[in-house]
Amino acid sequence: MRRPFVAGNWKMNLDLPAARDLAAGLVAGVPSDCAADVAICPPSIYLFPMAKAVDGSPVRLGSQNCWHEASGAFTGELSPDMVKETGCTYVILGHSERRNTIGPTDDSGRIWGESNQMIAAKARAVIDRGLTAIVCVGELLEQRDANQTEAVLSEQLSGSLATLSAADCDRLVIAYEPVWAIGTGRVATPEQAQAAHAHIRSRLAAQFDPARADEIRIQYGGSVKPGNAAELMACPDVDGALVGGASLKADDFLKIIEAAAASAA
Ligand code: PGA
Repeated sequence: MRRPFVAGNWKMNLDLPAARDLAAGLVAGVPSDCAADVAICPPSIYLFPMAKAVDGSPVRLGSQNCWHEASGAFTGELSPDMVKETGCTYVILGHSERRNTIGPTDDSGRIWGESNQMIAAKARAVIDRGLTAIVCVGELLEQRDANQTEAVLSEQLSGSLATLSAADCDRLVIAYEPVWAIGTGRVATPEQAQAAHAHIRSRLAAQFDPARADEIRIQYGGSVKPGNAAELMACPDVDGALVGGASLKADDFLKIIEAAAASAA
């Protein structure tokens, strides 16, 4: 039985007082015997104060990114050890906003161009430091429309997890985030999510082994809201959610956590 896992990806949002209020709301609202794992992933500059804010509660901390080297001349980056020192349990890796998958029509310059190879190096480094990697995968709308979803997911998985072995699976979470559903209000249907998650699990089984693949949690991400969380998490291979916009409001995020906990019953 996989324990549901809900993580809030705050992205580059909130000021420090608002972050403190949100964390306080979650600490007050997540029961100590919650049947789901819960994490918040604030901007890295807020990790230390948020660690203090959630201390003693079931709410865990995640970083939105990190670099794979242990130290050195990498201006602006954080090492896995630095991230760990803040009290983090998780690190999100390969989010589509960091991959080169924003899409050809997007000219906003929000492209870091992270490759599968780079993500694989980060996943190795993060797991080696005892952190859990949340590795994101997902297709663009034009890839879905061209029936390439499964091929894209397979390629992202084999590339981004190339450095890992079956022994690493207990420190691995996958987030399936169709790029067309992120921040758009356009959510995947439960059927679309389940089909993608089942495909991901079959690839994990092929790459590692079926028993380990069965234990890996696969979160759905992309416009998860209180109104759609329960039906998504009712899908047999959907084991929780990676939540952006709706994780910025304590009430909304708590309702999603409740839906995840209920899906465990
Ligand atoms: P969203 O973001 O919930 O705002 O769509 C999800 C994510 O990018 O992780």
